[in-house]
Amino acid sequence: MRVFKRISQIRKTLQRYKKRSRIIGFVPTMGYLHKGHLSLIKLARKKSQVLVVSIFVNPTQFGPKEDYHRYPRDLNRDLKLLKEEGVDIVFYPSVKEMYPEGYKTYVEVRELSQVMCGISRPTHFCGVTTVVLKLFNIIEPDLAVFGRKDFQQAVIIKRMVKDLNLPIRILTGPIIREPDGLAMSSRNIYLNKIERQRATILFKSLKWAKESYKRGNPDPKKIIRGIKQKIKQHRGRIDYVVAVDKNNLQPVNFLRKGTLIALAVYFGKTRLIDNIIL
Ligand code: PAF
Repeated sequence: MRVFKRISQIRKTLQRYKKRSRIIGFVPTMGYLHKGHLSLIKLARKKSQVLVVSIFVNPTQFGPKEDYHRYPRDLNRDLKLLKEEGVDIVFYPSVKEMYPEGYKTYVEVRELSQVMCGISRPTHFCGVTTVVLKLFNIIEPDLAVFGRKDFQQAVIIKRMVKDLNLPIRILTGPIIREPDGLAMSSRNIYLNKIERQRATILFKSLKWAKESYKRGNPDPKKIIRGIKQKIKQHRGRIDYVVAVDKNNLQPVNFLRKGTLIALAVYFGKTRLIDNIIL
């Protein structure tokens, strides 16, 4: 496994593989890897001949009051895990390498990035699409894998790839959960013991929503009210709970197969997201 910090160096190495028409797979991450990341890496490993993983805590996707500086980092542990997964190349650039002095260009996917997480994090997705497009331009992968926990992010990236005619196949991998149902996230480490216990209500309430729909309840308002009630009983502070079309992220009037129920909730200072598809 080779680790590159410089854009020019990783490009040079990848050019050699491209000349030999190798299928290049890519998984972008912000590091502090957990089983969720590893499942995306395993999926990418199966589909590609050369597998590239990036580790970059991207400052432009954090708001001014968000956790950029305290976001967890552990490079040595990450590298060990990536080696075990058979990753070929790791890209680990500095902030200066990605955003040198004078940097001015941002890419925005309209509307899709202004709903759901985009309401409380208005600059977040612009940072995500900008860094992902830069990484795509540097690595030029044939395919890239994103997690379905960040469902809105995956929808936005797919839109960007289509709109900007990028020749990259976007695959998504399932949400990986702790034994008690909490979706794996690097941010779970911020939760104290009580918050961690309370946070299990997120998946429980999503499962309740799905069961309620299956029993014949087609009303999104009732379902959303039910989820909110359960979360509040567990001291969660709700950012949003929505029932939307999984392709355009617009609210639905009736629940149907394929509807996305998604939520963002604070436990203490930690904001968690989760979702389920009916
Ligand atoms: O999902 C993430 O970890 C990040 O948003 C990504 C895609 C690596 C971009 O920084």
